[in-house]
Amino acid sequence: KMEDEPMMFVRQAHSGKPLSKVTVVGTGQVGMACAFSLVSQGITNEVALVDVFKDKLTGEVMDLQQGAAFTPSVKVYGSTDYAVTKDSKICIITAGARQKEGETRLQLIEKNVQILKHAVPELLKYSPNAILLLVTNPVDVLTYCAWKISGRPVGSVIGTGTSLDTGRLKFLIAEKIDISPKNIHIWIIGEHGDNSVPVWSRLQVGGVNIQELNHPSGIKDPKSLDDLHMAVVNSAYDIIKLKGYTSWAIGLNVADICRSILHNSRRIHALSTLVKGFHGVEDEVFASLPCVLDTNGISRVIPLKINDDEEAKFTKATKTLHEVQKTTGL
Ligand code: NAI
Ligand code: LAC
Repeated sequence: KMEDEPMMFVRQAHSGKPLSKVTVVGTGQVGMACAFSLVSQGITNEVALVDVFKDKLTGEVMDLQQGAAFTPSVKVYGSTDYAVTKDSKICIITAGARQKEGETRLQLIEKNVQILKHAVPELLKYSPNAILLLVTNPVDVLTYCAWKISGRPVGSVIGTGTSLDTGRLKFLIAEKIDISPKNIHIWIIGEHGDNSVPVWSRLQVGGVNIQELNHPSGIKDPKSLDDLHMAVVNSAYDIIKLKGYTSWAIGLNVADICRSILHNSRRIHALSTLVKGFHGVEDEVFASLPCVLDTNGISRVIPLKINDDEEAKFTKATKTLHEVQKTTGL
């Protein structure tokens, strides 16, 4: 009979440091899209959630936990107390105000930089070697601020930057020529959003330069390419007008970045980092360039060859960002 069977000796449950833990600060639309993407893809095995809004936080933790039977094994928990973030490998910061309809990202700086002044020291108190991954806007300026506040090596304070813009453009090109976005090789660099810079001179489809691609859609025409870029620049404003915020693409993008770090992949993503010394930039400013990601964060910036027009646009973007950076006093 079952009750006569000797119970197998069950060793003490694992109570050491987490194998791989990611913290998400801010359990709003973006934070929960990040958390959901991490959990549903099993990219890490512990997710800690932090927010100041206790009921929202508690509800989100409970709801995501209750998916456990349907996902890879990921422990989800949360608290308004940063102690819950202890021993995180990556701390994702999505806390803060988002744009209202028609508002620019740069207009969010005053509100959102204050949050970093509390959140960054708290996170590093419990996870001194964590990689900080900034999402909150204006993401390029806030990544600079987080780096200054943290005192950490530049490669360990990363902004999602134009990785989202680049992903959006790959999707639009893929739709136009009916090729997987995974075989569209293009970079958008510079500022995440209004001053982003598509590096058309480096656009390749499956290794074929766009100018050698005689596709019936006429995609290689400069007007067609410009229209695609404008669609990317306008996409956040369009989506915010329709649903009030953007979340799914950025959540999936953040999970992809975390996968590259946690798997020590050395994949290249367009990320916000210190670009002083690249393309003639003399200011200490954060903007996006193609970066190699490994277990310690950004290991290298790829010295992309860009043409004079692209360089001029990149310079304009970094000067705009530097002006806003100076208003933070950091
Ligand atoms: P939301 O309003 O849905 O969520 C923000 C969350 O932050 C709320 O739950 C709020 O309680 C929390 N929060 C506020 N102050 C806090 C603090 N001091 N500590 C901890 N939590 C705090 O906003 P949403 O839509 O999630 O957007 C968040 C940010 O992400 C915005 O700045 C938005 O512009 C940005 N974003 C960035 C993208 C990118 O590509 N970098 C893409 C999409 C959004
Ligand atoms: C975006 C804004 C919100 O979705 O940063 O691009």
